[in-house]
Amino acid sequence: MDGFRELLACPACAGALSGEWWCGACGARFDAPDGIPNLRLAGDARTEAVRRFYERAPFPGYPPHDSLHALRTRAERSVFARLLDRAIAGDARIVEIGCGTGQMCLYLAGADRVVIGADLARASLRLGAAAARRYRVESVRFVETDLQRPGLRAASFDVVYSSGVLHHTPHPRESFARLARLARPGGVIVVGVYNAFARIPSRLRRAAARLSRFRIVPFDPVLRDRQHEPERREAWVRDQYQHPEEHRHTIAEVQRWFAQNRVEYMRTFPSAVLGEEEPEQFFTAADDWRIENWFAQLGWMWTLGREGGLFFTIGRRR
Ligand SMILES: C[S@@+](CC[C@H](N)C(=O)[O-])C[C@H]1O[C@@H](n2cnc3c(N)ncnc32)[C@H](O)[C@@H]1O
Repeated sequence: MDGFRELLACPACAGALSGEWWCGACGARFDAPDGIPNLRLAGDARTEAVRRFYERAPFPGYPPHDSLHALRTRAERSVFARLLDRAIAGDARIVEIGCGTGQMCLYLAGADRVVIGADLARASLRLGAAAARRYRVESVRFVETDLQRPGLRAASFDVVYSSGVLHHTPHPRESFARLARLARPGGVIVVGVYNAFARIPSRLRRAAARLSRFRIVPFDPVLRDRQHEPERREAWVRDQYQHPEEHRHTIAEVQRWFAQNRVEYMRTFPSAVLGEEEPEQFFTAADDWRIENWFAQLGWMWTLGREGGLFFTIGRRR
């Protein structure tokens, strides 16, 4: 895939990288063990703790005997994934920041799209790359990099997607600023973070789980679904209840990040407009009334709270 390398850049100085993974501008040298470029610079202690956390239990992992068909069928069950896929052009250049084991990258690959999955944890990227080989998906490539100093070319992507990542970085607002720069002017940014209200049920479950030293996690529907998959069960317990770095955010806060980085706010998923049907066109502006947003978030405690409390905000870079 020729388009792949031109979307990468030196994480130290943003210079172009040669075929042998060295930077023509600052001379820094990198490598690509197992075909996955390592463009990660050493991070601070908190980021390093997060990296080690996911190296030990890659997230979300693949169920046994998975196939591309099964992966797509699972993804299609999510209204969000279907709307996102439908809204992205057939020739889009997409980057997923914090792709984990790469399921969304594989789902979004198709037509003439080029998809890059970027993550801190090589163990996760290896699983993603192995799945891409198994399923013969050639338009997805993976790169090891820290979003805080990304080895990705600025202003180059039609879609920057990131789910469940910013709230695990030490400074989510600064991390968002880094991520936003990757979108081209007019490009779309889709970020999923824990909602401050919708996360309350998970925090209550966590308090109860601590009492039994995590032998029992009450009322978690995801764990019930995974009762015969010990590895993916453990990955979920760790990710949801034992994470070393977790922040929670409101719509208003994410809107401020957008405004500070010249990103026009379009909508949230689920919609914060009370009673609104999901739109035919995902990348369009919805009404934005602060009072209604607060009511919607209170409701998310029940609707999103069952599965971790993640909501998405969608915007377009000016
Ligand atoms: C909860 S997992 C989400 C994985 C995937 N996006 C999903 O929705 O299934 C968070 C991922 O973010 C990655 N991550 C955390 N901090 C990061 C950083 N600073 N740069 C790049 N990736 C990061 C972790 O390695 C992990 O794979």
